[in-house]
Amino acid sequence: MAAALARAVSIADLREIARRRLPRSVFEFIDGGAEDETTLRDNRAAFERVRLVPRVLRDVSDPQPGITLLGRPIAAPLLVAPMGCSMLAWPEADLAIARAAASLKLPYTMSTMSPVAIETMAERAGGDLWFQLYVLKNRGFNDRLVDRAWAAGFRTLVVTLDLATGGRRERDLRNGLSVPLRLGWRQVLDGLAHPHWALQMMASGLPQFENVRGAMADAGAGLSIAARVGQSLDAAWSWDDLARLRERWPGTLVAKGVLHAGDAARLTALGADAVWVSNHGGRQLDGAPASLDALPAVAQAVAGRVPLLLDSGVRRGVDILKARQCGAQAVAVGRAALYGAAAGGEAGARRALQMLIDELRTAMMLSGTRRLDAVESNG
Ligand SMILES: Cc1cc2nc3c(=O)[nH]c(=O)nc-3n(C[C@H](O)[C@H](O)[C@H](O)COP(=O)(O)O)c2cc1C
Repeated sequence: MAAALARAVSIADLREIARRRLPRSVFEFIDGGAEDETTLRDNRAAFERVRLVPRVLRDVSDPQPGITLLGRPIAAPLLVAPMGCSMLAWPEADLAIARAAASLKLPYTMSTMSPVAIETMAERAGGDLWFQLYVLKNRGFNDRLVDRAWAAGFRTLVVTLDLATGGRRERDLRNGLSVPLRLGWRQVLDGLAHPHWALQMMASGLPQFENVRGAMADAGAGLSIAARVGQSLDAAWSWDDLARLRERWPGTLVAKGVLHAGDAARLTALGADAVWVSNHGGRQLDGAPASLDALPAVAQAVAGRVPLLLDSGVRRGVDILKARQCGAQAVAVGRAALYGAAAGGEAGARRALQMLIDELRTAMMLSGTRRLDAVESNG
């Protein structure tokens, strides 16, 4: 596997290693989107439509991709998006990806649906850790989660707003993938066909949602992961609730899952410190616009008052320049990092993130962009 990892030259190569190593149901859980996957496909198509006009005769011998984001210096405008259930790809994938991000001086966002306790993550991962909140129906429980994150040393809270219910991920429904894992004959056969994965999983034990024990909907038969998470969340949560969360959280508050310019402006007025433009990687509303297509209008509405983050479809370093050209300060990656972890744990995740940084540096040099932190643009 180490040899395959060493031969990989792109995120697409890492995805291919992950596809071969994982049971089909697990790979499709990571790779897939909602319903007809139109939004999933559109996320890539949007990046492929944007062009960068290069400038020449600039000294680009030492490109500087580092920026300051929300008051903290980071090595590149790149962070890791929250991913629940990533432990299905690799035991302790969350910790592996977090450590890889820390080693490269990039922020990592831990999901509410992580199998790792908030406090354990803070102790064992290091680096710039952000905590992502899914708002559960039990409001007292939410408050305690947020307080725990603060006490453990997290200073950035990302509240995800696009999961009023779980998107219909039809591949998961067909594959019968659920958490807790239920082992039917299909899962057993799939596991036998992927013995390395199966042995790793048996050795690490069945994953649990460590931070939401007792607050999740019943693990009733037939619920896919998205459906189970969705059933546990508070679909009635609205602006007043967010205002209350803003009062409670003393640190940086980021609103994730925003595509509408009016929402972005209102979030900014309410005191969000950043707006994270995202369609959840095409996993929620099928038919939502590509994040990159939604970005310019959001940027216009927010008018530089807060930084904009963007995810959904980032697979290349040059995508970071494209997102910045359309109005984002930084991008987040979900699957790109997880394909790496699925291909080779912490080393694989580091490989994925390093590839994106290396590609970014190349794209900076070729487009005549010396640095990203300065006012200088490509224009
Ligand atoms: C396997 C997986 C699990 C995810 N779990 C969460 C989660 O727990 N919380 C959340 O806010 N977003 C979650 N997301 C969405 C990501 O944070 C992010 O928005 C998305 O992956 C970005 O698209 P990309 O994968 O094309 O980079 C998940 C995405 C994937 C692929």
